[in-house]
Amino acid sequence: MAKDFSTMEDSNRSSNSSIHDVCDPSRRTVLRGGLGALASSFLAPLSAIGGAAALSACATSGGSAGASLLGFKNVAISLADTIIVPEGYSAQVIAPWGDPVGLSGEDHAFKDDASNTAAQQETQIGMHHDGMHYFAQEGSKSGLLVINHEYTDEGLLFTDGMATWTAEKVRKAQAAHGVSVLEVEDKGGKWAVVKPSPWARRITANTPCEISGPVAGHALVKTAADTAGRRVLGTLNNCASGITPWGTYLTAEENFINYFSGGDALNAHEKRWGLKKGGGGGYRWHEHDARFDAVKNPNEPNRFGWIVEIDPTNPSSTPKKRSAMGRGSHEGATVAMTKDGRAVVYMGEDARFEYIYKFVSRDTVKPGGATANSSLLDHGTLMVAKFNADGKGQWIALTQGQGPLTAANGFADQGEVLIKARQASDLLGATKMDRPEWIDVDKQGWVYCTLTNNSNRGMDKQPVVDAANARANNTMGNIIRWKEDGDFHGTTFAWNQFVLAGDPSLERVEAKGNIKGDMFSCPDGLWTDARGVLWIQTDMSTSAMGKGDLKNMGNNMMLAADPRSGEIRRFLTGPAGCEITGATSTPDGKTMFINVQHPGESPSERSDPKAPGAISNWPDKKPGGRPRSATVVIRKNDGGVIGT
Ligand code: FEO
Ligand code: CA
Ligand code: CA
Repeated sequence: MAKDFSTMEDSNRSSNSSIHDVCDPSRRTVLRGGLGALASSFLAPLSAIGGAAALSACATSGGSAGASLLGFKNVAISLADTIIVPEGYSAQVIAPWGDPVGLSGEDHAFKDDASNTAAQQETQIGMHHDGMHYFAQEGSKSGLLVINHEYTDEGLLFTDGMATWTAEKVRKAQAAHGVSVLEVEDKGGKWAVVKPSPWARRITANTPCEISGPVAGHALVKTAADTAGRRVLGTLNNCASGITPWGTYLTAEENFINYFSGGDALNAHEKRWGLKKGGGGGYRWHEHDARFDAVKNPNEPNRFGWIVEIDPTNPSSTPKKRSAMGRGSHEGATVAMTKDGRAVVYMGEDARFEYIYKFVSRDTVKPGGATANSSLLDHGTLMVAKFNADGKGQWIALTQGQGPLTAANGFADQGEVLIKARQASDLLGATKMDRPEWIDVDKQGWVYCTLTNNSNRGMDKQPVVDAANARANNTMGNIIRWKEDGDFHGTTFAWNQFVLAGDPSLERVEAKGNIKGDMFSCPDGLWTDARGVLWIQTDMSTSAMGKGDLKNMGNNMMLAADPRSGEIRRFLTGPAGCEITGATSTPDGKTMFINVQHPGESPSERSDPKAPGAISNWPDKKPGGRPRSATVVIRKNDGGVIGT
């Protein structure tokens, strides 16, 4: 979830369709000639994106078309303040908020009274874990775990919450955002963070980042502190994630606008992006950091909302904001590969009535890893989806000078189109979706997108239902899917609904859903594993949990779907007040990592610092202690592949 009290909530991550192609002879796309060839020849980091897992899992468990991919016994709905996994599985907590990341000489222990300083938080794991990926180093024994930190709960982050508000507190909140890079290893059956580690890194809301692509140097991203318009401090509201075939990590800046405070009179651009006086998320950074005062620095918000590329294997590398992929409240970025070796990146914008995008790179992926592909995501075509009532759809290019995207309509150049991607999509007649969250691709080439919910659909003065967003007051959410005509770069597709989430016991027809299996609501995280299982993670907002249509749903959960049969089985339930988000595994498929975000969150999304453990004290379980977002390691007790 995320603090956007008006439009949103939240989500998580993705895998790489091309990876599946490595072992799927029926797959029409890529990698036999594309990434498959790369894998065996020059694409060094294939193991980092799970290629080895794909190969080994396919070799051992590709399965006949008729055999279910789901081999575990489901778990029940739960309200318990704990992680519940199926019989025969175990869950282990690692990497909670506040533990040291492992920077040499910076081993500052977490203090449960939240008295760690801003400087200490800059060396500690951030708050509110979200998208994540395991980059293998020694196969399934050790690797780099890269974790997004979406937002902060100041009631937990500070001893007295926001009762006082200082520059030091703003600095600590900024330090709890961003991304953590951790070295992790399997130490005889238990996973641990390696400390110290030369790979350990914190990227925060103050880490220098570079704007690359068409927006670099654009007048709309120049500020008093950066007159060149090329260097931004930090990344924030890092929600879902993605990975590239050349071994880098993509982190999505989601509800960035909530960190900025606008003035009394907002211009049309500021209104379209939801800028509010005082900020929409209650972060109050602008009170002590003028960067976030959009009256003083009106272009600073234009420098956020990008997909940011990070090379986790180079701790001194500068994160790159890849502007060619467009600006948005980006949920994530999922890479697929075309047969001719181009990268296609799918992105949803998680806000009510916003859009689904894809970016097609101009150039093909080259041998030589991150260095050889350092500008691949700077050149290409951004497109937005239009879902038609006949089950077909189109991708419409956001290209300056084409159609309505002219200077006369406010798009002077391609940079302006990318910065104002929402306005461009409005003019292009793209389909306004029910909060697109994570996207992933299955082994058959279907591209799935979670549409988490939209209680405003069909309501007074709001957009009405359409073919792809067919439920008014869509409290439950759904998963839409499409298959491109031809290849991933295609401009037309066919779509259908994979599942409408819901509770079959409810009277309201639109909330019943059509799930084949265990009920759930508000799908958010989505991840295809190497066997082709589609993992679904939920994010019922804490303001809606246990009430209304969600009265029977219990805590947020993770489920597994067999995309061929549509069967869905509940695999895990999370502790009280949490969301489950982020999924990755070791190449052998025997260790899965998922994230528990904001355990104990109250409906206001800010905890009472006088009673921080009122709803949950997971995972430490100290009476009255603070709940902490954390990564959970899941293994099968017999050492088998997860889900079998
Ligand atoms: Fe950060 Fe839309 O989830
Ligand atoms: Ca969500
Ligand atoms: Ca999310």
